[in-house]
Amino acid sequence: MSTLAIIGAQWGDEGKGKITDFLSAQSDLVVRFQGGPNAGHTLVVEGKKTVLHLVPSGILHGHVLSVIGHGVVFDPESFLSEKKVLEESGVEVSPQRLLISGHCSVITPYHRLLDQLREGTGDKIGTTGLGIGPAYEDKVGRRAIRAWDLLEKKRLSWALEKHLGEKKVLFEHLYGVDIPPFKEVLEKLWDLGQRIRPFFGDTFGQLHSSITSGKRVLFEGAQGALLDVDYGSYPFVTSSNTSLGAIYTGACGPRGGALGEVLGVAKAYTTRVGDGPFPTEVQGPAREFLQQRGEEFGATTGRQRRCGWPDLPLLRYAARACGLTSLAITKLDVLVGLEELKICWAYKLGGEILTEAYPGLDLSQVSPLYENFPAPRKEDDFDEYKQRLQRALGIEVGLLSWGPGRHETQQFKTYFSSKD
Ligand code: IMP
Repeated sequence: MSTLAIIGAQWGDEGKGKITDFLSAQSDLVVRFQGGPNAGHTLVVEGKKTVLHLVPSGILHGHVLSVIGHGVVFDPESFLSEKKVLEESGVEVSPQRLLISGHCSVITPYHRLLDQLREGTGDKIGTTGLGIGPAYEDKVGRRAIRAWDLLEKKRLSWALEKHLGEKKVLFEHLYGVDIPPFKEVLEKLWDLGQRIRPFFGDTFGQLHSSITSGKRVLFEGAQGALLDVDYGSYPFVTSSNTSLGAIYTGACGPRGGALGEVLGVAKAYTTRVGDGPFPTEVQGPAREFLQQRGEEFGATTGRQRRCGWPDLPLLRYAARACGLTSLAITKLDVLVGLEELKICWAYKLGGEILTEAYPGLDLSQVSPLYENFPAPRKEDDFDEYKQRLQRALGIEVGLLSWGPGRHETQQFKTYFSSKD
């Protein structure tokens, strides 16, 4: 096995950054394939906290080549500030260590502005406001600016002009806002492109030759299955496919399509940031407990995350939608000290009992059915919960995590057999 995908099995913030960092030690390449700077992957190494948004979590390992595939919406400004923060904390971010696809769609200041203007209306989704949706719309609408375009001024000017036609009308007539001047944005993007030029290349070719030569490649998902634009709780989703298929369209497809392992990451409970239905959401003291102990604040926006009980119908669904072969359960330590843990084993919908969600199920209409489960009292108690999840989901738990540090992790399953 030389390929591994790590996918969020909930609404994002499952602790994928930590698990990716942990397994990066065993990888040669770490690859982002979708999403953009809306991701907030938090890593704590020797007590030092690093939050990554666009840069793959492999960057903290000197031997790893980090790759940003063409399925990512790339914000050059955000990338340069992240690079600066990493370099200030002693992490090398050089073209030898990070390759960015020249075919990424670019997030421009217009996209960010449009995202924020829309969020100011009655149709709020609770986005990160970073321009993700508008940038993906332009890609699918066949008018995106690609990273390569940043490197040739004539092409950039042409692409930007094409891109701006409709936006100008939208900004001025629908939102009554002046559009940032074309020339200024052109010069800014051109300058950013020049600074990032050495990082752009053919990630697709690099990935294919790496996989063919047996290199250990880890695909790092951002957000989670329930935020997937097709599988998720639409319309309260992000604008990319966050599930397994995005690897094939946003990075590369291994021969025959099979990846060695698909590891889903789920929190020991459930959280959600942004609007939208959340069947097992809790209020009152249990919410306070999970929120405080779990430090549930968004890594990108700082917003308080909504908290809830573990939700098996959603986990079963995520497992199926993403073809998960095993699961990592994170933040188990947060449950220690809870008076009682409730596990949602099914939903009631009308007269029906549903043990698994499905695409388009209206989560605002289901009533969760709970069983009470003893909350773990200390580390040794995690095994009982692990067994319970394995039985309920019919899927192996390959990793447990009970704190942010690398040492607070137990691995039960081998993910890269070729060189271990
Ligand atoms: P967008 O991706 O900024 O368009 O936001 C759409 C929805 O996805 C909102 O509910 C966001 O809060 C959510 N979202 C986007 N990225 C993340 C993430 O990395 N973790 C958790 N939620 C996210």
